Amino acid sequence: MDSTPDKNWRTVRFDVLERIDRMPSLSAVIHEFLELSMRDMFSATDFEKVIAKDQALVARLLKVANSGLYGRSRSIASIAEAVVLVGLENLKRIVFAVTTEGLTRRKLVHYDYHDQGGFWLHSMGVALAARTFAEAARSNAIRPEEAFVGGLLHDVGKLVIDEFLEADAVGKVTKRQEIAAIGLDHAELAEYILNQWNLPEPVTRAVRHHHSGLDDPANFEGGLILGLAEKVCDVWGFGRHLAVDLSTDVPLEPFADVLARLGIGAGRWDQLVWDIRQHLSGCEELYRLDA
Ligand SMILES: [Fe+2]
Ligand SMILES: [Fe+2]
Repeated sequence: MDSTPDKNWRTVRFDVLERIDRMPSLSAVIHEFLELSMRDMFSATDFEKVIAKDQALVARLLKVANSGLYGRSRSIASIAEAVVLVGLENLKRIVFAVTTEGLTRRKLVHYDYHDQGGFWLHSMGVALAARTFAEAARSNAIRPEEAFVGGLLHDVGKLVIDEFLEADAVGKVTKRQEIAAIGLDHAELAEYILNQWNLPEPVTRAVRHHHSGLDDPANFEGGLILGLAEKVCDVWGFGRHLAVDLSTDVPLEPFADVLARLGIGAGRWDQLVWDIRQHLSGCEELYRLDA
């Protein structure tokens, strides 16, 4: 599959390509896992077969499953047990998080994430929020698991651009500064990178459009879902400030139009925000568990 726009092929420079080549590769498990998640039915055994191929992943999964996060007192020794005790949905999230953390655990010099895993927390927060909105939207354009992976990787372009920015580009790095540095902004570069990695089109397209604007009539549901997820996480400064107060209210009003475009009733807003809060509240502990 190759849906990379011509513009990218013409403008990505050799030194940028070389830097992309040196990025930690995405575990093959993520592709199989996405495929598996797309099926209407799959069993814990199917899940186990896929992750058993990556021993480092299995070790990490068991560590997370045995952590205080899930309040289990006895030790979990197999994936099958972990699935039963922690729940398939939680384990799916952990698999995606672990398979991408070689990328998202990096510290960025120029962008405004805090230095205690801020970039990872931001990526994870947007992934969890995007999945919540995608589940509510039931869109044909992007599925919840694709929205989750899109959220995890939506800012992956920043990992490369960070190395090319001028020293005075700090904090709120602008699109103009990114384009001055490499000729593309971080959303365009992320689309290019994710196409190189053969991620599904709904993921690459959503990532490309995560800053295209919630009021842009041309934007599609995937881009809207990632954009909305990012804005909600930013209300709390998740990943950007060290002390976040997740109890801060997230008013519906600025997001009412985009919610309507996604076919989500306004009456569901409070519940969705509450769900996202619950998901985000366990993230810092998950981050502190060493790989
Ligand atoms: Fe972001
Ligand atoms: Fe972004």
